[in-house]
Amino acid sequence: MEIRHFLLGLCAFCLFHRRASAESTCNLKAKFNLSGYKDVEKKKVVIGGMFPIHKRIASNDGNTLRLPVSSDCEGFNFRTFRWTQAMLFAINEINKREDLLPNTDLGYVIYDSCFTISKAVEGTLTYLTGQDEAVPNYRCGDGPPLAALVGAGGSDLSIATARILGLYHFPQVSYSSTCSALESKFQFPTFLRTIPNDKHQSTAIAKMVLHFGWTWVGTIAADDDYGKYGIKDFKEQVEEAGVCISFSETLPKVSSPEDIQRIVQTVVEATAKIIVVFSSDVDLSPLITELLRQNVTNRTWIATEAWVTSALMISLLGGTLGFAVKRASIPGFQRYLLDMDPYTDPLTEEFWETLFNCTLDYGRALRTSKQKARDVNGTLSGEVRGLPDGLCTGCESVAKLNNTYFDVSQLRITYSVYKAVYAVAHALHNLEHCKEGQGPFNGKDCADITDFEPWQLMYYLKNVRFKVPHTDEEIYFDKGDVEGFYEIINWQFSSNGEISYVIVGHYNGSAAPEDRMNILNDSIVWNSEVLEPPRSVCSENCQPGTRKGIRQGEPVCCFDCIPCADGEISNTSNARECILCGVDDWSNDAHDACVPKIIEFLAFGEPLGITLIVISAFGALVTISVVFIMNVGTPLVKANDALLSFSLLFSLVVTFLCSIFFLGQPQNWSCMTSQVALALGFAFCLSSIMSGYTLLPHCVESLTPLWAFYKDIFSFLYTQGIACGVWLIMLPPHSIKNTSAKNIKIILECDEGSVVFICCIFSYDILLALLAFIFAFIARKLEDNFSEGKCITFGMLVFFIVWISFVPAYLSTRGKFMVAVQIFAILASSFGLLTCIFLPKCYILLVKPECNTEEMMRPHAKTRDGTATGTSASLATAATEVNATISSMAIDD
Ligand SMILES: *[C@@H]1O[C@H](CO)[C@@H](O)[C@H](O)[C@H]1NC(C)=O
Ligand SMILES: *[C@@H]1O[C@H](CO)[C@@H](O)[C@H](O)[C@H]1NC(C)=O
Ligand SMILES: *[C@@H]1O[C@H](CO)[C@@H](O)[C@H](O)[C@H]1NC(C)=O
Ligand SMILES: *[C@@H]1O[C@H](CO)[C@@H](O)[C@H](O)[C@H]1NC(C)=O
Ligand SMILES: *[C@@H]1O[C@H](CO)[C@@H](O)[C@H](O)[C@H]1NC(C)=O
Ligand SMILES: *[C@@H]1O[C@H](CO)[C@@H](O)[C@H](O)[C@H]1NC(C)=O
Ligand SMILES: *[C@@H]1O[C@H](CO)[C@@H](O)[C@H](O)[C@H]1NC(C)=O
Ligand SMILES: *[C@@H]1O[C@H](CO)[C@@H](O)[C@H](O)[C@H]1NC(C)=O
Ligand SMILES: *[C@@H]1O[C@H](CO)[C@@H](O)[C@H](O)[C@H]1NC(C)=O
Repeated sequence: MEIRHFLLGLCAFCLFHRRASAESTCNLKAKFNLSGYKDVEKKKVVIGGMFPIHKRIASNDGNTLRLPVSSDCEGFNFRTFRWTQAMLFAINEINKREDLLPNTDLGYVIYDSCFTISKAVEGTLTYLTGQDEAVPNYRCGDGPPLAALVGAGGSDLSIATARILGLYHFPQVSYSSTCSALESKFQFPTFLRTIPNDKHQSTAIAKMVLHFGWTWVGTIAADDDYGKYGIKDFKEQVEEAGVCISFSETLPKVSSPEDIQRIVQTVVEATAKIIVVFSSDVDLSPLITELLRQNVTNRTWIATEAWVTSALMISLLGGTLGFAVKRASIPGFQRYLLDMDPYTDPLTEEFWETLFNCTLDYGRALRTSKQKARDVNGTLSGEVRGLPDGLCTGCESVAKLNNTYFDVSQLRITYSVYKAVYAVAHALHNLEHCKEGQGPFNGKDCADITDFEPWQLMYYLKNVRFKVPHTDEEIYFDKGDVEGFYEIINWQFSSNGEISYVIVGHYNGSAAPEDRMNILNDSIVWNSEVLEPPRSVCSENCQPGTRKGIRQGEPVCCFDCIPCADGEISNTSNARECILCGVDDWSNDAHDACVPKIIEFLAFGEPLGITLIVISAFGALVTISVVFIMNVGTPLVKANDALLSFSLLFSLVVTFLCSIFFLGQPQNWSCMTSQVALALGFAFCLSSIMSGYTLLPHCVESLTPLWAFYKDIFSFLYTQGIACGVWLIMLPPHSIKNTSAKNIKIILECDEGSVVFICCIFSYDILLALLAFIFAFIARKLEDNFSEGKCITFGMLVFFIVWISFVPAYLSTRGKFMVAVQIFAILASSFGLLTCIFLPKCYILLVKPECNTEEMMRPHAKTRDGTATGTSASLATAATEVNATISSMAIDD
């Protein structure tokens, strides 16, 4: 577009070139059609201005059959019209001042850029050349010199104009172009601005997003340099800090309903609650309107300075946070806005007609016929009261309207315009008051205010430093930019349902990094019922006890929380990995700490332990009481050999009591004691039973001394004792911590030391038991009074049953119950033997003492089998038989 005009202009240049000889070869290709304000008559210097008074150019009808004309503009913008008035107001003010440019009247040329690059370029060329049939590189006529251009609205407009102005070293002071791309002195050597660079704003928004812990945000950017650069800077900064972008939409300049629908759909479907928008109000308003129509109100918007206080936004986005440039009140400005005569120029007429939705034709007629009647109230005088609809007189009262144009509560960009005009004025002032001989140019030269070059003014502009009237803010350009200071604005509904812009903090880009942002949390009203800031995260934090699991193909902020496995923990939020607990530790239920494993052993104090102690003590007591009972009834005891009984009873006491050693926390000594005591106790017990059969004949018949009787028992015991001794010395049993059997417990148990030894030792006991059983089995047929043989056989059967059933029970239990099973087996087998062998005898001794006589023994025996054999005799016979069997077995071997 620019290029087209440029070329057209080049040709026009030929046409108007004074020295052009071949006039016939050039012809005018286009005439720009611009609207605006102009007052250059009798002025010393002219300041340019460019404002996007209209929102767009009228769409071309695409007709290529006729001469294309410069497009018209449409969509009157009251807000930017106010900016224009601010420039006029400032020039007026400066012209009235005595201290600033006292002898120099400023003129102005202001063009409407229509928010469009092509119009901005048209305006720039027209301004530079002074003609709407632009001849580039030449300015014809002898009007006052041009100072600087104040403008041109949005960033992409300024970029376009700055490129052209840069060619002529013509200074430009922008009041609302914030794009960071404009900071390049290489590309835009003459560009200055009175509004902060967006770099600060992107940083500030990023800081705010991080401040509230939002890690999941959507972004919407206008399809221009302002939006693209702003969002790019913002994204770079937050992504570095681990924030993820939920969606990134671009608002088209000319938005079709389909585009808007698509973006609305994205916003509705996205889970991000925070949406950062880098866009002008004009571009954004169709989207906001559509979102509100669809009742999408539960998002929090982060606004940039371009739309944060714009009335174009329907005031329903309560809770919006935004950054706004400095605000000021300009005394006299409101009066100036209200004291407006609609008939001065076409733009003001259009303003009036748009404002009141009427046409001024009637009023113009009245005015020309000098019948205009306007009273102080602004009401119409009697003769025009019956005015038809759609017509107005120009006497309407503007003060009664709540139009954004008259709203001077949020003078931010307006104030920026005001500062820009003052900056140019101060630069001109300095230029004018250059002391001859002390000037900066060409070795102490000064420039002449009536005829200076733009680059000379540029020098003064760059170095200008002044205090803005009424506010005392000091302005100077640091590399073309001003200080990055923003107020943080929160949109809040006031009691009457209107939106109010409440300042909740500020951001000072020049302060130390930690002091830059200052937010008063309590004063923010959020777009939700709760008082807390909304949470905008893709996935909620992973609690301790879980770890982050990435989701394939999704941003890092979206993850699943995977519980730690047993034995693993995570003790921080958002842990990436679970930590394995140490050997002695295990994870707690929540998996957020390692806790020592439970130490398990069968304690004395617990019910099971107490029960077992009671049972074994009871067993031992019963056994001891049997000893006393046996003492009483001599005949029967004699008949059954007291020594045999007593040694058997003694060994049973040992086995009963040794079970106690299995209880309690295993210690090395208790491991040894329990196993050895058990082995020896059983060896003693079984060898006693067996000895009863092998040795008894000798006792009865030859009354061999005691030691002879015990010789065999002791020989068995010796063997076992020596084996145990070797075991204890070589590979003694010891207590161990078993950490592998169960995850959550450490089992304290006895390690046998050597499996081979313990097998040998208990195999020996088993061998004795088998022998005892065999002997008893053989002897069971021999008759005696108390069926001694049968009792022992039965006792041994019980013994075997107990120990055989012990094996599967033992193998199928774990931990302390293994010990309990072991003790039960010991107790059960001991009780079995005790009961089977001694219960019948005790029965006779206690219940039927009359049978306990020598006589009763014999006749009883006689009646039973007819032969006069006593118990002893029968035992002896049995023993002989057993001996024979043993010898034959030995021979067989
Ligand atoms: C210029 O624009 C105005 C309205 O903005 C229109 O009335 C006029 O015809 C246009 N002139 C040309 C030459 O296009
Ligand atoms: C403000 O809120 C943020 C996040 O909620 C918190 O980190 C900060 O401490 C709060 N500051 C004050 C002054 O309450
Ligand atoms: C917004 O509200 C709608 C229903 O009112 C709900 O379905 C949706 O999830 C909400 N969105 C967010 C981001 O909270
Ligand atoms: C929005 O809400 C209003 C009232 O709550 C309702 O009448 C309207 O149908 C809703 N519009 C949509 C698009 O859901
Ligand atoms: C408004 O006009 C009426 C009639 O002309 C007049 O009496 C009244 O004082 C005026 N009001 C103001 C505020 O000037
Ligand atoms: C302007 O007035 C016309 C007729 O007088 C009417 O049809 C139209 O709706 C009005 N527009 C607005 C925005 O009030
Ligand atoms: C303008 O605003 C004031 C208060 O803000 C209100 O009282 C008045 O009714 C409004 N007028 C119009 C025409 O909306
Ligand atoms: C911003 O911070 C700088 C450095 O601390 C300070 O000089 C300046 O006055 C601050 N600006 C405002 C508006 O407070
Ligand atoms: C988390 O556990 C590790 C290892 O157990 C420990 O070093 C660290 O101090 C723990 N951190 C917290 C916050 O408890």
